[in-house]
Amino acid sequence: MTASSPLLPRPPVPAEFIPADYFRVLEKSEIFLENKPLEIDLGCGDGSFLLGMAAEHADRNFLGVERLLGRVRKVGKRISRAGLTNAKVLRLESRYTIEWLFPPESVSRLHLLCPDPWPKAKHHRKRLVQQDFLEALWKVLEPGGEFLFMTDHPEYFEWASDQVARFGKLERLEWDETTFFYPKTDFQIQWEAEGKSMHRLRGRKPLKAD
Ligand SMILES: C[S@@+](CC[C@H](N)C(=O)[O-])C[C@H]1O[C@@H](n2cnc3c(N)ncnc32)[C@H](O)[C@@H]1O
Repeated sequence: MTASSPLLPRPPVPAEFIPADYFRVLEKSEIFLENKPLEIDLGCGDGSFLLGMAAEHADRNFLGVERLLGRVRKVGKRISRAGLTNAKVLRLESRYTIEWLFPPESVSRLHLLCPDPWPKAKHHRKRLVQQDFLEALWKVLEPGGEFLFMTDHPEYFEWASDQVARFGKLERLEWDETTFFYPKTDFQIQWEAEGKSMHRLRGRKPLKAD
């Protein structure tokens, strides 16, 4: 797709999802016409995980959210070259996307993988996993929907676990490398090559939620 969009000051990227309006809640059918379970990869980076999942699960739709245009271009080209019709990329800020764009109970799994850990105490407020994010996440997850968080950073893992415990509404589930198909992310490959290990948190919105 090369035609320009009235909403963008640049030509769209292949496989890019451009909301018709950035200031109203979307209909799920605006993202993908076919009604399949929707999975979101927040901060999708180079798209390795997104493409791996989309290729494996033709029965699900995958949307990568990424703020850096260069990465969005790369992901869009990779999706287009692979001929995947169940994957798209959205150039937008993660928190805004979850808080304002997604309809309630529309997301079956939300992945947040190797996010920036913001290690300095004065930057902790920039970490995505906070109570307001968890509230927004709760609203967009379907009953039975899951939040999957993975980091190489032990202290961010403790922080996120504590935030989820304080939030109190997500059921913690077991999750290790063997639990289900889960391609490695670009950053995960880099960190593991340096000898770091991954810490995983999996939380589910109960089927009968309040
Ligand atoms: C450390 S990288 C991890 C990328 C990928 N998830 C992986 O594991 O390979 C974090 C990614 O999130 C993106 N990112 C960081 N903050 C973001 C935000 N607030 N909204 C959207 N993307 C964000 C960055 O541009 C980067 O591509």
